[in-house]
Amino acid sequence: MSSIDDVKSRLDIVDIVGGYVGLQKSGRSFKATCPFHNEKTPSFIVNPQRQSWRCFGACAIGGDAISFVMRIENLDFGLALRRLADKVGVTLTQASRTDSDRNEGLYRINSTTARFYQDTLKSPEGQNARTYLESRGVDAETCAKFELGLSPSSRDRLKSHLLKLGIDEAQAVLAGVLRRADDGNTFDFFGGRLMFPIHDRRGRIAGFGGRALDDSTPKYLNTAQTDIFNKRSMLYALHLAGESINSKKTGIVVEGYMDVIAAHQHGYTNVVASMGTALTEHQVSQLKSLAKDFVLALDPDAAGQEATLRSLESSWRVFERQSVDGRRRSVGTLYQREPLRLRIAALPAGLDPDALIRQDRREWERLTEEALPLLEYLIPVVAGRFDTSTGHGKAQVVETLFPLIASVENLFDQERYFRTLAQVLDVSEESLKASIGRLREGTARGRGADRKAPQPPDASAAPAAGAEVSLEEFTLTLLLRRPDLRELADDFSPQCFHKAENREIFTRWQSSTRIDNLRESLDASLKGHFDRLDERDLVPADTRESRLAVWQCLQRLERRHLQGLQEGLLATEEAGVPPPREVESAIAEVNARLKELFSEPGR
Ligand code: UTP
Ligand code: MN
Repeated sequence: MSSIDDVKSRLDIVDIVGGYVGLQKSGRSFKATCPFHNEKTPSFIVNPQRQSWRCFGACAIGGDAISFVMRIENLDFGLALRRLADKVGVTLTQASRTDSDRNEGLYRINSTTARFYQDTLKSPEGQNARTYLESRGVDAETCAKFELGLSPSSRDRLKSHLLKLGIDEAQAVLAGVLRRADDGNTFDFFGGRLMFPIHDRRGRIAGFGGRALDDSTPKYLNTAQTDIFNKRSMLYALHLAGESINSKKTGIVVEGYMDVIAAHQHGYTNVVASMGTALTEHQVSQLKSLAKDFVLALDPDAAGQEATLRSLESSWRVFERQSVDGRRRSVGTLYQREPLRLRIAALPAGLDPDALIRQDRREWERLTEEALPLLEYLIPVVAGRFDTSTGHGKAQVVETLFPLIASVENLFDQERYFRTLAQVLDVSEESLKASIGRLREGTARGRGADRKAPQPPDASAAPAAGAEVSLEEFTLTLLLRRPDLRELADDFSPQCFHKAENREIFTRWQSSTRIDNLRESLDASLKGHFDRLDERDLVPADTRESRLAVWQCLQRLERRHLQGLQEGLLATEEAGVPPPREVESAIAEVNARLKELFSEPGR
């Protein structure tokens, strides 16, 4: 639970508002004269079920407990939240501030370090490394684009550079660029290596990879895990490739830093690297918000095939899960529903993507274009790993492949894979299907158990209120992701966002010019919430589809807001407030607008 939700869950809006105005019970709600405008008849209603308040009179505004305190105390979001947090005894707010401040410090140290390495590469001391890069065909433009650098071989140079700039030694250790020895002294973590900064999706440097310039081991030394860096959850060059993956509707995943660099230099800009590890669920989930088609171009050797298999064993769950969950999501049509398509490019023996691209780019293009659908590639590979002359071996092959085949959505494709598998195993399709029937029962039970797990976050069976919330948040994610569609929501009323944190972000979004400035402008307590919105997966969509989605979301938000108003107005009428004529005209207005909204065809 976020600190914002934590605070909200511990307070009761009736107490909070009741601390400022005299509330009178009225049916299931409470009423009062509005503290925000002058009136004699109460038109201010607090609804304990929804934990909301609203003035149905002259101000016509409403919100939750945070927005009430913001307004009545004239505070900004962060101060209002802190005021409430103190009241209910939550201290998380302060913690979340120092947390995000510290992380920002780590990113700053990394970018200072990267600049220092870049300067070192350009200095006389970088001559050898520059020659090495040249011998590998990397040009100056590419070096600059990837911010390549050199760590000096004496291990105190970065340290003294950072200290001179006033950077805290302990912080630099936390960032992973300095290392503390047993005797307590610190020294540069990387020495005498060609440096590859590793950026997150937003382009912040989270860590580094450093290649030895001779035969020393390890060939690549990477930043150890830190608060902001975990190699297994990142994809190298995603910040450079994201847009291109999105516009080409295809992404290519390779293994190594040098493979990505060669690809981008030759104009294949939709390429990222898994950095030698098996593709993880987290990596896949970052990719699937960009496109639906991916090609894995992995090293052709046995190790490469093994890596492919491990990749898929660990990440196929992501592919499968989306088909299970797609139907249960609240804003169904707008979330990820189309299955990911994964194809495998089998490269010729002895050539990794880097070598192939430089040697024969047409062949690289052909192989990536003609990559085989995952299962077509995998069936013979898996069959080759077991002794299929025995019944036991056959069963092992079926067991390995069954979950993957079962997750194929297209029934014709699925049928074809079963046929291929039967042929490869030299069994009849009937006996294959019989053995699969038994496996399927086991899997169905397994899946049933899975469902109770809290995962995945945005698909947890949401109650009605949760569904409303996710509509607000989904809309924000869409808007953050598509700055080009800003005009659609430029004059949309922030009042339609009912949660203070979402309203705050939306209001800031309306008045900010750039999304990076937007994050900076937010109160520390909102950054975590913002990051969750910003990192949420969306179904890849072209501009027309995204326009439609934004427009539909705004329309739904407005409808929901007006329907709430309508109910509230009816309730005030029942409770005899305010003067019926005023209520009647307000209801008429809301009804007219609702009618308009319901009759507007999808654009
Ligand atoms: P490779 O050994 O294929 O390296 O490892 P490469 O990228 O092709 O590099 P060159 O061409 O030999 O210079 C693939 C990836 O695995 C990770 C790195 O991300 C590397 O790019 N790796 C490899 C490590 O992290 N540590 C290692 O010691 C080796
Ligand atoms: Mn290589």
